[in-house]
Amino acid sequence: MPAFHDRNDQAYCEDLALSTIAKDVGTPCYVYSKSSILDQCRSILAAFSTYPTLPCYAVKANSNLSILKEIFKTGFGADIVSQGEMERALRAGVDPKKIVYSGVGKRADEIASALRTGILAFNVESSAELETIASLAAERGLVAPVSLRVNPNIDARTNPKITTGLFSTKFGLVETEARALAEKVRQLPSLRLVGVGCHIGSQIVDVAPLTEAAVRMSQFAAGLRELGHQLDFIDLGGGVGIRYQAEVPPTMESYANAILGAVKSTGLKLLIEPGRVVVGNAGVLVCSVVLTKRTPEKNFLIVDGAMNDLVRPTMYDSYHEIKAAKTTHGPLQTYDVVGPICETGDYFGKDRELPACAPGDLIYLQSSGAYGSAMASNYNSRPRAPEVLVDGSNYRVIRRRETLQDLWELEL
Ligand code: LLP
Repeated sequence: MPAFHDRNDQAYCEDLALSTIAKDVGTPCYVYSKSSILDQCRSILAAFSTYPTLPCYAVKANSNLSILKEIFKTGFGADIVSQGEMERALRAGVDPKKIVYSGVGKRADEIASALRTGILAFNVESSAELETIASLAAERGLVAPVSLRVNPNIDARTNPKITTGLFSTKFGLVETEARALAEKVRQLPSLRLVGVGCHIGSQIVDVAPLTEAAVRMSQFAAGLRELGHQLDFIDLGGGVGIRYQAEVPPTMESYANAILGAVKSTGLKLLIEPGRVVVGNAGVLVCSVVLTKRTPEKNFLIVDGAMNDLVRPTMYDSYHEIKAAKTTHGPLQTYDVVGPICETGDYFGKDRELPACAPGDLIYLQSSGAYGSAMASNYNSRPRAPEVLVDGSNYRVIRRRETLQDLWELEL
C-alpha cells in the first residue's frame, strides 16, 4: 500500500489518519512517511548495486535532522552547498568522507571548515574558487580533494529556473577551462584531482539529457586520463524528477540503465546527488480551511498554509495535487486554493475540484517533501510550521512549530 492512501473515508500516512496528527499538532504541518523515504533510498541503492556507486543525498531538498539521520543510516553520503548544510549532515551522522561540497560561491570560511572536516571532495566551479581552495589548504599544510564541475551545455528540458547545465547559467566550467584547471591542479601540491562531474538541472523526467551528460562526462574523464590525470570518480549530480501531476519520471532502474552504460566504460566510481526523488513524494503539507470567499470571477478556498510554507506553486508554476483529508464524496466545487498572505502570488492551486469545503476542514498538498519546509520563510511574520515523521501508527514531531516569540527572538 502506498504510504499516503485513503482508508475509512480518511487520508492516511502509513497507519495514521492525517486528521489525528492535525488535531494533535495543529495546522499547517508537514507530514512525512519514514517508510516512503527508506523505500526510495533502498530502491536507489538496489538500482545501482551492480556498479560501485555512492549516492550523496542533496541536503537542500529537505534538511531536517531526523530525515537526514534516516537517509544516512542507509549508507548515503551528502551533497552540501553551505557550511550550515555540512554541520547538519555531520550532526545527523554522515561519514565526512562521503560529503561532496557543491556551489558556485563557497566562501573562504566555509571552505576552511570543510577542509577541517576532511570531506570527500569540493566540486569546483571556477578558477577563482580553485585558487582559494589551493591557498587555504596550503596555509594549513593540507591537500584538498577537488572535483571539476563541468557545464556540458545540455538542456535538461525542465523549468528554466532549475536548469543548470546550459552556458546561460552561472554553473560549472566549460570543458576547455576544466581541462586547463586539471593541469593547474597537477602543479599545485595542496590540491589533488579526484573527480569530474556535472549537474544539469532538477525535476528531469526525460532520461535522454541524463544519458547525454553521462556520455559527455565519461568522454571528458577519459580525455583527462589520456593526459595523465588520475581520477577516482564521476559525479553525475541529481535531478531525477518525480510525479506531481501526470509526469512519467524514470524508475530508478531506468535511470541507472540510462547512465551506467557510459560510466562503466571508464571504470571510475560513480557519485549521484539525488534530492527530490528521495523525499519529494514522502511528504504532504496539511492545512485547514479558514473560509471560503466568492468574487465575481473566482471561488476561493482560503487555507491556513501559504506561500511561506510551500513556495513552489508561485515560484515555479509547479503543480501540487490538492486533496481533502476526508474523502466522503459530497458535491464538488471548483476552487482557487490560496493562503492568507498579502500577495496575489500566494496560491497553491488554481481551478481545482474539491468536495465543497467548510471552515475547519482539512486539505493536504501532495509531493511536498522536497523543497517545501526547506524553502519555508517567516514572510508576513508567520511562524514556520512543524514537521512530523510517521512510522507505522506512531509519529514524532521532528521540528516544533515556531512560536511568536521565535519570530523576534534574534532581534532583541
Ligand atoms: N546536486 C546539485 C549540485 C544541485 O544543485 C541540486 C539541486 C541537486 C544535486 C539535487 O537535485 P534534485 O535531485 O533534487 O533534483 N527548489 C527547486 C529545486 C532546486 C534544485 C537545486 N539544485 C524546486 O523546488 O523545484
